[in-house]
Amino acid sequence: MSETTDFDGLEVGYDIPARPGMDETDIQTPCLVLDLDALERNLRRMGDYAAAHGMALRVHGKMHKSADIARLQQEIGGATGICCQKVSEAEAFVRAGIDDVLVSNEVCDPVKIDRLARLPKHGARVIVCVDNADNVADLSEAASRYGTQLEVLVEVDCGQGRCGVTTPDEVVALARAVNAADGLAFTGIQAYQGTAQHIEAYAERADMLDRVVAQVKDVVAALDAAGLAPGLVTGGGTGSFYLESNSGVYNELQCGSYAFMDADYGRIETPDGARFDAGEWEYAFFLLTQVMSHVKPDRAVVDAGLKVQSVDSGLPVVFGRDDVEYISCSDEHGVVSDPGGVLKVGDKLRLVPGHCDPTANLHDWYVGVRNGKVETLWPVTARGKAY
Ligand SMILES: Cc1ncc(COP(=O)(O)O)c(C=O)c1O
Repeated sequence: MSETTDFDGLEVGYDIPARPGMDETDIQTPCLVLDLDALERNLRRMGDYAAAHGMALRVHGKMHKSADIARLQQEIGGATGICCQKVSEAEAFVRAGIDDVLVSNEVCDPVKIDRLARLPKHGARVIVCVDNADNVADLSEAASRYGTQLEVLVEVDCGQGRCGVTTPDEVVALARAVNAADGLAFTGIQAYQGTAQHIEAYAERADMLDRVVAQVKDVVAALDAAGLAPGLVTGGGTGSFYLESNSGVYNELQCGSYAFMDADYGRIETPDGARFDAGEWEYAFFLLTQVMSHVKPDRAVVDAGLKVQSVDSGLPVVFGRDDVEYISCSDEHGVVSDPGGVLKVGDKLRLVPGHCDPTANLHDWYVGVRNGKVETLWPVTARGKAY
């Protein structure tokens, strides 16, 4: 069920890129297109994998920012809950009926803490990360003020050098502080190694995760010894979930990008040494673009530039074509090399964006297609929710 089911009064090409029922060929460009069959297969595959390995699957909603996709992940993809990175994202998901949300991040600003502490009043389980004692006190004060309960994970920095404490003693001290604080409950630890996710060589990724798992085992042993056994040991992303799942210490995965895939993830290796995009994970997320100029015989100019995609992880790849290549972009234009002169004005191409998360955040809508027809139009519910 979409939040926006009534498209009456919305104009295709101005407010919305397409309308359900329309032919795929009539979609306005540039816009985000989801191959619904591929999306559903990705969701089921990860859900089945997590279930077979006894792992809870708390899918990362920061990737798609869509309440419709989060619901689909719960319905068919085995998702037991949702992660997000920001309080405003959490609010968007809870408003849309998602009732188990982890803000997999620290929330230290007083206004944001206040909003977070109110969120359980809407019937949701709300979990947040901490890495400092002052923050524990502030969260406790706000939850007590509203008579709510926030569940708290101590974040472990397992080598990424981002948020989180490092040693077992630091983790135990924070867990004790949480346990003693009114309005808070110590729920476990978050140990996510983001740097590992995109390492192309599987062996190198596995090596890094071996060190992470050893660290997490030490932390859990110290918590157990202190009588603070963690309920949740959560982490893992699309590039590393095999490793956390088989670690014997994690019990929850936080994968996000697997649902859509992107060109950067497509290049990394599976444990069998194959490319990620060579079967296991399918591209389901595309930036549909159209040729708008072809004055130079060997170059086409398309209508998807920097304003509709993030190129921080590389340029997009033209899906299903090796005769043409997206080679550069500026604000509103992309240049596609066309050595054979095969493209013409009006031709549409599906681009696989380099990085799905920041690309999705630049758009208002997902156009879901199946068998050549537009089946759904989903809002990017938490688009721009960066607070
Ligand atoms: C804390 C955390 N967990 C999980 C993920 C999901 O990672 P991926 O999209 O690579 O699966 C991210 C992504 O950056 C993250 O920051």
